[in-house]
Amino acid sequence: MLVNGAGGGVGALALQLAKAYGARVTAVDSAKKLSMLRSLGADQVIDYTREDFTEGGARYDLIFDIPGNRPFSACKRALTPQGRYVLIGHEKFGESGKPILGLIPLFLKLMFLSLFVKHLPKPSSSMPSKKDTIAVLRELLAAGKITPVIDRTYPLNEASEAIRYLIEGEPEGRVIITP
Ligand SMILES: NC(=O)c1ccc[n+]([C@@H]2O[C@H](COP(=O)([O-])OP(=O)(O)OC[C@H]3O[C@@H](n4cnc5c(N)ncnc54)[C@H](OP(=O)(O)O)[C@@H]3O)[C@@H](O)[C@H]2O)c1
Repeated sequence: MLVNGAGGGVGALALQLAKAYGARVTAVDSAKKLSMLRSLGADQVIDYTREDFTEGGARYDLIFDIPGNRPFSACKRALTPQGRYVLIGHEKFGESGKPILGLIPLFLKLMFLSLFVKHLPKPSSSMPSKKDTIAVLRELLAAGKITPVIDRTYPLNEASEAIRYLIEGEPEGRVIITP
């Protein structure tokens, strides 16, 4: 599996979940986050400023794409014949960063393509319930198989400082405000 944007909030959790279920994981993010990604269990890491994962020749059974900065046609080259591509999408990056409608046109395009392209999951109404999902996450947390990545913790009376750090400080992990 490849997690693109593995150093962010969603990616760090996706990486750990994949490892908890026994996947071999390649994690893509910026250089400063690569050692953190290795410590979370990544088998291989790629610095996106130096290497384009769609050009490297490696093939993945699953690409879990958070920034969506490469077009699906390029990601398809990095999939095995039965491989799947899942887009989370991030308003800030790449071709997903469109004004006004944001990610909606891209998701609609991928939903339409999924009718013809086996690499894209079909829209489905059978999602696990939030209760079941939380129960699984609780078990994995208790077993130490997933750990939140915490950058800094602030007391409630320093909440404005916490928000400033979140915006300007480029935190590597979550910023926590304690009551
Ligand atoms: N975190 C949550 O709890 C949560 C909950 C619900 C929804 N969401 C949504 O889910 C999406 C992802 O959120 P997130 O919290 O994971 O975002 P995030 O913390 O900003 O993470 C995005 C990651 O992608 C990396 N990145 C930037 N450019 C890249 C590139 N060209 N190639 C590969 N990686 C690149 C960023 O690294 P740099 O440091 O280099 O920029 C960062 O580590 C967002 O749309 C968010 O609104 C998040």
